[in-house]
Amino acid sequence: MQEVDGVEAPTRTGVELLSGSAAAAPADVLIVGVAQSPDGAVLAPKSEDVDKAFGGGLIELLRSCGSTGKADEVVRIPSSGVVQARVVLAVGLGTVEGDAPTAEQVRRASGAAARALSGVDHAVSTLSRLDLAATVEGSLLGAYRFADYKSSTPPLARLGLLTEGAGHTEVLRRAEEVAEAVTLARDLVNLPPNDLFPQSFADRTVALGKQYGLDVETLDHEDLAAQGFNGILAVGMGSTRRPWLVRLRYRADRPKARIALVGKGVTFDTGGISLKPAQNMDEMSADMAGAAAIVATVVLAAKLQLPLDVVATVPMAENMPSGSAYRPGDVIRMYGGKTVEVINTDAEGRLILGEAIVRAAEDEPDHLIEVSTLTGAQQVALGNRTYAVLGTPELRDRVVGHAQATGEGAWPMPLAEDVRAGIDSQIADLKNSPGHKIGGMLAAAHFLAAFVPDGLPWAHLDMAGPGQNTGSAWGYTGPGATGVPVRTLAALLLEVAGRG
Ligand code: BES
Ligand code: ZN
Ligand code: MN
Repeated sequence: MQEVDGVEAPTRTGVELLSGSAAAAPADVLIVGVAQSPDGAVLAPKSEDVDKAFGGGLIELLRSCGSTGKADEVVRIPSSGVVQARVVLAVGLGTVEGDAPTAEQVRRASGAAARALSGVDHAVSTLSRLDLAATVEGSLLGAYRFADYKSSTPPLARLGLLTEGAGHTEVLRRAEEVAEAVTLARDLVNLPPNDLFPQSFADRTVALGKQYGLDVETLDHEDLAAQGFNGILAVGMGSTRRPWLVRLRYRADRPKARIALVGKGVTFDTGGISLKPAQNMDEMSADMAGAAAIVATVVLAAKLQLPLDVVATVPMAENMPSGSAYRPGDVIRMYGGKTVEVINTDAEGRLILGEAIVRAAEDEPDHLIEVSTLTGAQQVALGNRTYAVLGTPELRDRVVGHAQATGEGAWPMPLAEDVRAGIDSQIADLKNSPGHKIGGMLAAAHFLAAFVPDGLPWAHLDMAGPGQNTGSAWGYTGPGATGVPVRTLAALLLEVAGRG
C-alpha cells in the first residue's frame, strides 16, 4: 500500500495499490465510474473526492460532454489543473441496481477504460474502491493485446488503483494471477495454426510444466498407437503434423480433492474429408481453446498452491483432409474398447475427447470437467457470450453458478433422453453424429457421456461461440481469444480447495 505521493515499483503487471486522495494522485489520466439513470448520468460512489475538487460540478461537466453512463462508453475531459491528473476519463457502468455496481459491471467498465488508455503512460482508477479484484481483472484483461506478430507495439499504461483501508495485497495478487491465467490461455489460442500445431503445443505445455514444477507426461503418435488411442490417431491421420496426448499435473502435498480436466486441442479443424466451407474457416485455429483453458488452469492451481490434485489431459490433433485422412464410414476401436462409426469427420472433437475422458477417469478423480469448442449448435442455441454446461446435475449447476458469478456467462442444458438414440449405430457401439442438426449440442454431449464411468460427477462445457470474439471489443474482451472459461474453472477450484 502506498500513499499517493509515495513511489512504489509497479508489479510485473504494471498495477500498483494507492491510498489517499484521487484528486492528488499524480497521473496522466484519472478514471471515474459513471452510472446510467432515468435522469441521466450519475457519478459512481467513492469518487466524491474527485467531484469535490470540481466544486461538486463534475457530473454536470461530464453530461455536457455527452456522458450517459451506458456500458462501454468513455468520455474524457481535461482537468485544467483542478485535479493532479491532466485528464478525467469517465467510463460507463450501465444501470446500477441498489447502491453499488456489481463486480461484473466494475470488471467491464475497468476493461473499457483500459482499452481507451493507448498512448497513456500512467493512469489511476477510482473503480478499485468499489471492487478491487474486479478492477484488476477487468483492467488487465481489457489491456490485453496479442502482439507476437506485430512489428511494433505501444507500451501499456501503468495503472494505480486507489483503495480504502488495508489488507488488499492478497486480493491484488490473486486477481493478477487469475488474469495472468486468462492471458496465457488467450495467447495460446491466438497463436496461428502454422506455429501452434500438435507438437509445438505439446512442447509449450512441457515447457510450462518445467517452469512451474509440474508432472508432465507426453504420448507421441507411436505411444498413442501402442496404447490404442485410435480415435486421436484417426483424427490426426490426415495431417503431416502428428497427434499428441499431453498430461499436466499439479499435486499438493495433502490434496483435498482430485480434479480431472479434459480439453479439446484441435489446433486446426478443416472438417477433414467432411470439409468445412471456406467462409470463416480461419476461425478454426481456435479449436484448441478448451485445451488452452485447462492448461492455464493447472498452471494457476500451481501458482496459487491450492490444496488440490489437478490433472489436465489434453489430446492434440490437426484435422485435415488428405490421402491418409480418416473417412466417413470408418469404424474406430477407441481407447477403452468402445467402437465408433464415423458419420462425419468434422465431428472430430468428440472422438479425441472420448478417449481423453477414459484416460482421465483412470486416475479415479472426484470430479471430471471437460471443456471444448465442440458444436456449432452451441452458438445457434446460446450465442457467443453464453457457453453451455451439460453433465451430472449437481456439478453442472455448480459450474453455471461460478460462470455467472465471474461474468463469463453459462447456461445449463439437458441430456435430453430422446436425443441419445440418434448416435446409436447399426454396426458399432456408437456413431459420431446423428447425421442431422436436431439437438446437435446434446447429441455431442451424449456421445461424451458414453465414455464417462458411472457415478463420476462430470461436466461438459461447450464454448464454441464464447471461446473467441470475432466481433468488436466490449468490456474487458478484445478481439480474438477470450480465455473463457478459465475464470469459471479458477472459481470452482478455489471453492473445492476451501479458498472461495
Ligand atoms: N470445431 C467445430 C465446432 C465449432 C463450430 C467451434 C463453430 C467453433 C465455432 C466442431 O469440430 C464441428 O465441426 N462440429 C460439427 C459437428 C457436426 C459435424 C456433427 C458442427 O457443429 O457442425
Ligand atoms: Zn472441431
Ligand atoms: Mn469439426
